[in-house]
Amino acid sequence: MKIILLGSSGMLGHDCKEILSKNHEIIAPSRNEMDITRWDEVIETLQTILPDVVVNCAAFTDVDTCETEEFLVRKSNVEGPRNLAQGCARFGCKLVHISSDYIFDGQKMLPQPYFEDDSPAPLSAYGKSKMESEVAVRDNSPNYIIVRTSWLYGMNGDNYVKSIIRRAVQKDVKSLIAANDQFGSPTWTYRVSKQIAELLKIDGRGTYHATAEGHCTRQECTQAVLKKLKIKKKVEACSLRDFETRANRPMNCILENRMLKQQGINIMPAWREDLNAFLSEFGKKIVAEAKAAIS
Ligand SMILES: NC(=O)c1ccc[n+]([C@@H]2O[C@H](COP(=O)([O-])OP(=O)(O)OC[C@H]3O[C@@H](n4cnc5c(N)ncnc54)[C@H](OP(=O)(O)O)[C@@H]3O)[C@@H](O)[C@H]2O)c1
Repeated sequence: MKIILLGSSGMLGHDCKEILSKNHEIIAPSRNEMDITRWDEVIETLQTILPDVVVNCAAFTDVDTCETEEFLVRKSNVEGPRNLAQGCARFGCKLVHISSDYIFDGQKMLPQPYFEDDSPAPLSAYGKSKMESEVAVRDNSPNYIIVRTSWLYGMNGDNYVKSIIRRAVQKDVKSLIAANDQFGSPTWTYRVSKQIAELLKIDGRGTYHATAEGHCTRQECTQAVLKKLKIKKKVEACSLRDFETRANRPMNCILENRMLKQQGINIMPAWREDLNAFLSEFGKKIVAEAKAAIS
């Protein structure tokens, strides 16, 4: 298939480009070449390329900055997806759009997961914008896939796993601190990209959750990273509320991949197994980069 991929310089977009280009023709315009907030650029590009599918990994993703940049966030996270959905409808192509666990309020009793049809109730401006992005896609595109994912890590972007390593390699840091009351599923961007490829293979339609199987706290995730890298430092527990951040974050970020399972295409592995696979491949490189940044 001919696929336009947006956001390929980002963490998920980078891996999507690598995975999808194995079986598809990928055109990956930079933000300069196609800004999704610009209707004219969206329409012109779709009209010229006439793709079968548009995969949208582009978004404004800095959760705390979203609290104060309402205009920019709306443009990239709501108007952009609306432009893409209307463009896809006009030229008859499928839209794959990425959304987030942050559309939920995280108040569900633990360890109950969120399902695809649970009601959104975002706590933050970012979460609200992602919720509205979904509405824009559903209202405007007759052929779409919305993939909700969470706690992403990968080699080509900044993320929680890399920040743990950056802190852990500092000699003067004797112990780390991480929340033991926020629950979720650390998920490798490479795996989400493979799942998107599977969804395209079966011509999936509708809203899907795609996160690693099982769940943990931020503290357990931090311990798992240190254990795999054989870094012997203690991880002290704290509460999510101890971190003073501008945006509120949900405590329960667990998503169940129910639609993927119902359709027999869930390929998401257990979170710990996949985190170990990621660190086997990239751990040494990330540690080296983190040490180089200190000296
Ligand atoms: N990171 C997570 O933990 C997480 C969790 C759940 C869901 N998600 C969702 O997953 C998707 C990918 O996230 P990510 O972490 O991979 O993002 P990311 O690394 O921050 O990358 C965002 C990408 O979007 C591009 N972009 C932003 N505004 C644009 C615009 N107006 N027009 C065209 N391109 C634009 C950026 O281009 P430039 O680099 O040129 O600015 C960049 O390539 C997003 O929809 C995000 O909401 C992420």
